[in-house]
Amino acid sequence: MPHSHFAIHPVSPTLGAEISGIDLSQPLDPAAAAGLAGALDRHLVLVFRGQTLSDADLVRVSGHFGPLDKAPVTEHGRLHAPGFEEVYVISNVTENGRPIGALGAGESVWHADMTYLETPPYASSLYALEVPAEGGDTGFLSMFAAYDALPAALKRRAEGLSIKHDSTTNSGGYLRQGFAPPADLATSPGTVHPLVITHPATGAKALLLGRRPHAYIPGLAVADSEALLDEIWAAAIRPELAWHHRWRVGDLVMWDNRWTMHRRDPFPDDQRRRMHRTQIAVPADAWNRSAA
Ligand code: SIN
Repeated sequence: MPHSHFAIHPVSPTLGAEISGIDLSQPLDPAAAAGLAGALDRHLVLVFRGQTLSDADLVRVSGHFGPLDKAPVTEHGRLHAPGFEEVYVISNVTENGRPIGALGAGESVWHADMTYLETPPYASSLYALEVPAEGGDTGFLSMFAAYDALPAALKRRAEGLSIKHDSTTNSGGYLRQGFAPPADLATSPGTVHPLVITHPATGAKALLLGRRPHAYIPGLAVADSEALLDEIWAAAIRPELAWHHRWRVGDLVMWDNRWTMHRRDPFPDDQRRRMHRTQIAVPADAWNRSAA
């Protein structure tokens, strides 16, 4: 039976909601899919507990939110689930001496995904197949809350500036294939975005930080850019603004990548963690409008 009823339970003052009353292995009717997309807009992170999803289910459910990207190129090449180029494997597990997934067991620092693109991806879904007994939690941060938390003087300094998002290194700190380590931040490869962005519907302001390593504020000396970015990051990533998800097998977590950052705690490398992720390029309504 297709689903159309679910309940929304916010999990923190700044972002995140747990969705109950929905079995995502079953077809989603269009009203429920639109309701979930609205909940993602409002809460920025959605958590669905106790799901049993195949890769085909993950692709189908994510596909309700918009068109899916292929798995990105990682430190080990393009790692996707067998038969599903859209399903990116994030794991520390090796099989026959080869990593089956990306990002290992280390920490990934606060970041948003692929903000080195002109149009960074809209959202991601991450589904837990195996989780470690300790560590490996994923934290989320609202970039609206991060902007609001800046002291007024820092808000004034940030206004009107842009920021170059580095394209050489991934969130695990690994050099992406085909790139050299950046030598001079003022000239290294990346994409320039405004530092402060505005939500088109609500007018709320958010920081667009991407990730800290190798970021650069054009027009400033590299040392001044580093100092200003350090100050902004320190104010933005205050622990009380963040919410951390403790994974259980069968959790599906979706987040809006445009208005949030995420990070992952390290975990013991002798424990297995296996996650399947999809990335949604643009929201379904924008996609339908551009196709019309
Ligand atoms: C990521 O940074 O996309 C990975 C998140 C995680 O493994 O929890």
